[in-house]
Amino acid sequence: MESRGITSQEKTGIELHSAEYAPTLSVRQILLVRQIVLEALHPSELPFLQYWSLDPTITFLNHGSFGACPLAVLAEQQQLRARMEQQPLQFFGRDLEALLDDARAKLAAFVGADSDDLAFVPNATTAINTVLRSLVFAPGDELLTTNQEYNACRNALNYVAERYNLKVVVAEIPFPIESSKQVVEAIIGCISARTRLALLDHVVSQTGLVFPIAELVQALTQRGVETLVDGAHAPGMVPLNLQTIGATYYTGNCHKWLCAPKGAAFLYVQRDRQAVIRPLTISHGANATRTDRSRFRLEFDWTGTDDPTAYLCIPTAIRVMESLLPCGWQDVMAKNHALAITARRHLCETLEIVPPCPDEMLGSLAVLPLLDGNPQWLQDSLLERYQIEVPIVPFPTANSRLVRVSAQLYNRLEQYEVLATAIVALLYEELNQTANK
Ligand SMILES: Cc1ncc(COP(=O)(O)O)c(C=O)c1O
Repeated sequence: MESRGITSQEKTGIELHSAEYAPTLSVRQILLVRQIVLEALHPSELPFLQYWSLDPTITFLNHGSFGACPLAVLAEQQQLRARMEQQPLQFFGRDLEALLDDARAKLAAFVGADSDDLAFVPNATTAINTVLRSLVFAPGDELLTTNQEYNACRNALNYVAERYNLKVVVAEIPFPIESSKQVVEAIIGCISARTRLALLDHVVSQTGLVFPIAELVQALTQRGVETLVDGAHAPGMVPLNLQTIGATYYTGNCHKWLCAPKGAAFLYVQRDRQAVIRPLTISHGANATRTDRSRFRLEFDWTGTDDPTAYLCIPTAIRVMESLLPCGWQDVMAKNHALAITARRHLCETLEIVPPCPDEMLGSLAVLPLLDGNPQWLQDSLLERYQIEVPIVPFPTANSRLVRVSAQLYNRLEQYEVLATAIVALLYEELNQTANK
């Protein structure tokens, strides 16, 4: 590929740091940018792309939002659905329980938990709501979270706080940040005698930071605070051992970095808290007379008729992904992390940005702050004009712009080089328009 080894700045002669330059972009430069973008989009240069059904005309740098499921896993789901529809009574009435047990055992081994402590749920949002809405609080109790909490889960926290007249205490985690020590200090510094529960991300959506979760859980537990960890991005991105982490409650999505079909997640609940945590939907399990299974298991395994095939495909997703590289998952996580770091380095160099956190605080998401402006315009323009799918996150203010890149096996460094070039061109154009107003 022609662009390899040559920075987009060298090729286009465009410099981003705008204060000094005269904002003019020649037609020749615009054409050059477009040419680099089009050259770099050739799918034959992305060998792993063949295992996914992603549109090859899109430079897809957003695995993080919804994941993407490999073709082999989707084929397995299709077979399970055919089986379900061929004899629904056999499938739901006689086979499903053992199938769920088997899938849960394989997932438990992957996340370092006892399968008796795991329940399947469709997504992390459901798991967070399940815990928050099961607990009973006293007026004046405090719920601790951070300024980087995912909006949907923060809403669930606010809902419960309003209902019980609780105080939500928000630890301010800086971004840019120099070390994970700052995360621990900010959170521990917000604990009071009234703190009942801390809702913390394992991997933050907006900034891509991987929090030192075992250390945080330990410090909170020592101070008598229950921990609800939102690990929506963690399974398949970072090595996971729930027993070592020791959270009271932990949820992870399997449809993101584990690459299971959509609607596959789990909720881990410490054994001595399982009697308290009830599913959002109360169903047959609530008065079941069986004694061979816990109430926790009976309630969560049936919350009304639904398609359970995403859960059942988790073992296949684990197998398919580990088969793609010689050392399996260890390689997948290491390769994705390395790509995120290299991509970030390239973006930082091209866009003249100081990396906002140390490499060790990242998994396979990397986030960079761009010049303030309209985030939606930039995200839409990258897609419409350059066929690049990447989120521009309005954080910490509505006018802020964080570009968040994901790195999955089907991505290559050249795609981020293209992104850097396209961002340079668009920011330049934006400045040009502002200057001409
Ligand atoms: C930190 C975090 N929590 C929760 C979620 C919600 O995941 P879901 O939509 O699968 O419930 C996300 C999604 O990106 C996330 O990043």
